[in-house]
Amino acid sequence: MLKKVLKIVIPVLLIGLVISQFFSPAINDGDIVEANDLLHIEVASPAVSSIIESACYDCHSNKTTYPTYAKISPVNFWIQGHIDHGKEHLNFSEWASYSPGKRKHKLEECIEELEEGEMPLKSYTWLHSEAKLTDDQKNLVMEWCKSVMAKY
Ligand code: HEC
Repeated sequence: MLKKVLKIVIPVLLIGLVISQFFSPAINDGDIVEANDLLHIEVASPAVSSIIESACYDCHSNKTTYPTYAKISPVNFWIQGHIDHGKEHLNFSEWASYSPGKRKHKLEECIEELEEGEMPLKSYTWLHSEAKLTDDQKNLVMEWCKSVMAKY
């Protein structure tokens, strides 16, 4: 019985997988206006900039660098979901449009996420080892967030 069911289910799944390759979500490849960007508006050391760019910008900016496997359905939908969702909450490419109060609040949230080890998402650091932050890197970024918050 099970064998019979599998004989039907497996081909159906495989055909579904093949067909799904013709579908892909809209990718995050927007215009980057440097003047609107967090790292243009706020002064950051090269060390801080490079941590934030490599660990956060794929999901919190208008442009994502996609790995090759990200083109395969349905992985692409799953990855795009994180990007769209991340950007909706926080978009460093649109920093210029955030009010001082909003900037302060978002930086505070960044500190919280880093302290709790919630960001970058675990599923991301599995495949992007460069985004796995050491305690020193987290502290550096958190101190920077605090210093920027003091401005607002
Ligand atoms: C793989 C995608 C991804 C990466 C990389 C990533 N984030 Fe996120 N981020 C998300 C998603 C999705 C959410 C919204 C859902 C949630 O809170 O889990 C989010 C939410 C947040 C929030 C909450 C914003 C709000 O208004 O609620 C902050 C703050 C944040 N991220 C900061 C960071 C920082 C700082 C980094 C880099 C150290 C980072 N994220 C890297 C996907 C990502």
